[in-house]
Amino acid sequence: MTVNTSIAARILRVNHGGEHGAIFIYSTQIAVARWRAPDLIPFLKEALDHEQAHKARFRSLMPAREAKPCRLMWIWAGGGALLGLVTGLLGREAILACTEAVERTVHGHLTDQCRWARGRDPELLHAISQVQAEEEAHIAYAVNTRLGHGQAWLASLIGGVTEGLIWVSTRGDSRRLAGELAHLA
Ligand SMILES: [Fe+2]
Ligand SMILES: [Fe+2]
Repeated sequence: MTVNTSIAARILRVNHGGEHGAIFIYSTQIAVARWRAPDLIPFLKEALDHEQAHKARFRSLMPAREAKPCRLMWIWAGGGALLGLVTGLLGREAILACTEAVERTVHGHLTDQCRWARGRDPELLHAISQVQAEEEAHIAYAVNTRLGHGQAWLASLIGGVTEGLIWVSTRGDSRRLAGELAHLA
């Protein structure tokens, strides 16, 4: 393989962990939304299906790039479940603020990764681009479905918590990786 396996491996590890976290966010929200926001259930279930497919897709690209799943998957799971539980209990608008904030954070990382993968790893680029299109649809749903302008303070809090979780579970590698991707692009 001629691609830079170490960067591709790090991209896959953080993305695979992130999808694991997203699965826990949506699963927990589905459980709570049954009585807090039943109208959101079809969307949450569809998004959960997407996140499961994204996780499997990134996992399937790992062996050829000598990537291994993150050792701290429980942080992704626990952080995701906590975010899903708190926002689910806060109700409909908080669930939508969470979707928008988390997906926007992810989107930024994916954009940097696409810039790096272009011309270096076409298979990875294709996978990330397809995943990113579905994450964009999740953002669009949240923005179009919320009432009013959304809860900006909650969205920025959740965005910060998400970045923090990504940073902790990669033990700082998310920040280094972002810096390297910007430098290499
Ligand atoms: Fe995803
Ligand atoms: Fe998503």
